[in-house]
Amino acid sequence: MAILLNNHGYDNASWQAALAELMPDQQVFLFADMTPERRQQIEYALVWDHPPGDLAAYPNLRAVHLLGAGTEAVDADPAMPDVPVLRLVDPQVLEDMARYALYWVLHFHRRFGVYADQQSRAHWERHNLCASDEFPVLVLGLGMVGKTVAGRLADNGYKVLGWDRNSVTLPDIDCFSADDLKAALPQSRMIINCLPLTPDTRHMINAGLLSQLPAETVLVNISRGEVLAEADVIAALAEGRLSRAVLDAFSIEPLPADSPLWRHPDIHITPHMSGATYARSAAKLVVDNIHRIEQGEQPFPLHRPGRFTDKNKM
Ligand code: GLV
Repeated sequence: MAILLNNHGYDNASWQAALAELMPDQQVFLFADMTPERRQQIEYALVWDHPPGDLAAYPNLRAVHLLGAGTEAVDADPAMPDVPVLRLVDPQVLEDMARYALYWVLHFHRRFGVYADQQSRAHWERHNLCASDEFPVLVLGLGMVGKTVAGRLADNGYKVLGWDRNSVTLPDIDCFSADDLKAALPQSRMIINCLPLTPDTRHMINAGLLSQLPAETVLVNISRGEVLAEADVIAALAEGRLSRAVLDAFSIEPLPADSPLWRHPDIHITPHMSGATYARSAAKLVVDNIHRIEQGEQPFPLHRPGRFTDKNKM
């Protein structure tokens, strides 16, 4: 048995090191070093953003383990083999995303940008602060990420509203579902987008949705760039519907150097780092799933159940 490692666009070396430590007897082949003979040996594919069609070319493949939470590459691949596909949902990543969201909520609620500007002018002025429970933050999408983000904001005393297309109940969060989004939007001072990219959510944050927000709302995007209609976000900033946008994900990554987003005075850009996956914590989750499959147990979280091989007795 052998493992394919293709962490496309990101670091393979730390994964190789972590896998060598956790599975010292296992052969791990990088995608770049693949040969027809090695393709025959691959039973597990650990991939991120793999080339469409590639995973169909490993005749003994038993499972695909994504090296992140998003499933777009698999969903867009018309030639996926019929094997289980697992997402990687690392609690460390969820915590990092929640802290990223909290950082920006604190930034805008406590007006740290205003104070930075005042310092640049040697200007001393203290601004009144509304109570945190009077500063409503709406979390869009209450999957694993959204739930963790919402919980952390509520733990820090913020008034948190949450919306999901399904009905979800969470302690200390005002939960809205389906069409009730229109009731949640006008109450929000900040929106944190945690929605997965699907055909339903593509460009969901568009002019129609943004027009329902109170003036000067702050938008934070920690999911996927394409959930936003980018031109509508820029228009909402120009109109004052949004006061600022914090963008960590883009429809093209890396964000091209000539993108006007880089230089927009009301946009804060980070390079998809709100919840980066690190092998130091995540490799153990992947290896535990491989062991589960080897022992005929159910791995998780499954994105697609696929067909387990007889060897799994599942
Ligand atoms: C990162 O964006 C991920 O999907 O894990």
